[in-house]
Amino acid sequence: MKILLLGSNGQLGKELERQLSSVGSVVAFPRSSLDITDHAAIKDAVRCVQPDVIVNAAAYTAVDQAEKDPETAFAINAEAVAHLAQRAKTDNAWLIHYSTDYVFDGTKPTPYIETDSPNPVNVYGASKLAGEQAVVDAGCQYLIFRTTWVIGKDGSNFAKTILRLAAERQSLKVISDQIGVPTSPALITKATSNAIQSIKNDTAWPRGIYHIAPEGASSWHEVAQTLVSFTEQNNIPLSVSVESIKAITTAEYPAAAKRPLNSLLDTSKLRSQLSFDLPHWKDDFLAVVSEIVKELQTP
Ligand SMILES: NC(=O)c1ccc[n+]([C@@H]2O[C@H](COP(=O)([O-])OP(=O)(O)OC[C@H]3O[C@@H](n4cnc5c(N)ncnc54)[C@H](OP(=O)(O)O)[C@@H]3O)[C@@H](O)[C@H]2O)c1
Repeated sequence: MKILLLGSNGQLGKELERQLSSVGSVVAFPRSSLDITDHAAIKDAVRCVQPDVIVNAAAYTAVDQAEKDPETAFAINAEAVAHLAQRAKTDNAWLIHYSTDYVFDGTKPTPYIETDSPNPVNVYGASKLAGEQAVVDAGCQYLIFRTTWVIGKDGSNFAKTILRLAAERQSLKVISDQIGVPTSPALITKATSNAIQSIKNDTAWPRGIYHIAPEGASSWHEVAQTLVSFTEQNNIPLSVSVESIKAITTAEYPAAAKRPLNSLLDTSKLRSQLSFDLPHWKDDFLAVVSEIVKELQTP
C-alpha cells in the first residue's frame, strides 16, 4: 500500500507522517518540497510515487487572514484540491482529504450530521466547502474527514497560546459561547489508518464525508480551564489560576472572521465504520496536553 502524504509539516501532517507507516509505505512532502498549488509538480509526484492513497493534510488554515486574502485561501483549499481529486481519478488512487465544521453556520441547536446543509460564515469555511464539492464532483474514490478545533503537540494552536498567556498575565478572558470539542491529530490519524486498512483489505468504507471528533461537548472557556488545571497539577508555574479565567461572549472578542457558535459534529456515521471507540474529549485533549507539558518540563 503506497501512500502519498501532502502537507506533512502541519499539526495533522506531522502525526500522519509518524503513524501511517503502520499501514503502508509513506512518501511525505512538506510544503517546502511540494506546493499543492503547483499542478505540474503534483502530477509528477503522483506519476512517480504511484500511490494507492493520496492523503491531503495541506490546507490554508489562517481563519482571520483568509478574510483579507480569499484568493490564496481558495487557491489552496479549493483549486488545488480540485486538481488533486482529478489526479486521483485519472491515476486510480483513493483521496483522503480533511475539512472543517466551519462549512456550517453554527445555528443548529444539535450536533451537525454529514447531510446537513452547509452555510459557511467566513472565507475559510467557504474555501473548504468549495474543496469538498470539488472532490465530490471529480468522481474519484474519496473519504473526507470533517473535523473541528484541532489541537496537537506540534505547531501553534489554542492550547499553546493559552499556556503562553497564562505564564505572562494575571487573568485571561476566554470565549464561552462557542460550543465544540478539541480534536487531537492522533485521533484523526487513528481513524485515517483505520480507513486505509479497510482499503488495503478490499473492504473500503463507502466513499463520502465522515465527521470526526471526540465524544462530549465543551467551550473554549472550559478547554482553557481544563488545560490550566492540568498544567498546575503538573507543577508548571503559571501566573493565571483556573478561577482567574473569565468567561466572555464572542461579541466581546472581535475577530476579522465570524465563527459558528455550534461546532459540534455528530459522529454516528464514522462510528459505524471504526474498529475502535471514540474517546471523550477530555481524555483525548489531556493526552495532548501531557505531551506539551512534558516538553515544557524538559530542560
Ligand atoms: N486547525 C484546526 O483547528 C482545524 C479545524 C478543523 C479542520 N481542520 C482541517 O484539518 C486539516 C489539518 O489542519 P492542521 O491543523 O494540521 O493545519 P496546519 O497545522 O495549519 O497545517 C497545514 C499545513 O498545510 C501546509 N500548506 C499550506 N499551504 C500549502 C500548499 N500550498 N502546499 C503544500 N502545503 C501547504 C502548511 O505549510 P506550512 O507549514 O509551510 O505553513 C502546513 O504545514 C486541514 O484540512 C484543516 O482545514 C483544522
